[in-house]
Amino acid sequence: LRIAVLVSGNGSNLQVLIDAMQGGALPIDIVGVISNREDAYAVTRAQQAGIPIAVLSHTESGKRMGIKTFETHASAQLAAWQPDLIILAGFMRVLSASFIDNVPAPMINLHPALLPAYKGLDTHQRAIQAGERYHGCSIHVVTAELDAGQVLTQALLNINIKDTAESLQTRVQQLEHQLLPWTILLLAKGALSLDADETSKSVSAH
Ligand code: GRF
Repeated sequence: LRIAVLVSGNGSNLQVLIDAMQGGALPIDIVGVISNREDAYAVTRAQQAGIPIAVLSHTESGKRMGIKTFETHASAQLAAWQPDLIILAGFMRVLSASFIDNVPAPMINLHPALLPAYKGLDTHQRAIQAGERYHGCSIHVVTAELDAGQVLTQALLNINIKDTAESLQTRVQQLEHQLLPWTILLLAKGALSLDADETSKSVSAH
C-alpha cells in the first residue's frame, strides 16, 4: 500500500509507521510526508528514514502560507506520489471541502477521542471535566465536516480518578500507536470497507 502522511508536530504516529515499514510488520511504502510546519519533529523523522518530505509552511516572501496555497501545493505533491491511502497523523490545519473531495485516494484521520463524542481540540480535558468513564481514540474517514466522517476503528481506556489531561493524553497516544497500524493492516487486507455514501474512493494497492 502506497501511503502519504500529513503531519504538523512530533510525528510519533509517523514513527510507528516508519518502524512498521522498515521492520516489515505492515505491507506499506510511505511514499511521502507533507508537513505544514518546518520545525515539526516529524520532518526530522522522515528525513532520517529517507522518506521524501514536502515542507509547505511559508511563501517565498516568508509569510505563513494561506490554506489555499498549501492545498494547491499539497494536491500537486499527492498527485505526483500517487498514494493508495492518505493519513492525517497529527495534522493541525482544517482542510477545505474542495481539497478533501479531490484528493487522489481515501483520506483518514486519527482523532484523540471516542467519536462522535469530543470532536475538535482539548478532548482529554473536556472528557475529564464531563466526568466520563471512558476515553480513547478513533480513526475516521475525512469529510468536509470536521471530525464527522465514517468511524473505521476505535480503541478505548478507562479514565482514572487521578488522570490529568496530560496523563490521559499520554495513555491515549499509546493506544493510537496500536490502533493506527492495526487499522492500516485491516484496510490493506480489505477487511474494512469505506462507506460508499461518504467517499467514492476505495483502498486498493497499485
Ligand atoms: C495525536 O494525539 C493525534 O490524535 C492528534 O495529534 C497527535 C499527534 O501526535 N490528532 P504525533 O504527532 O503523531 O506524535
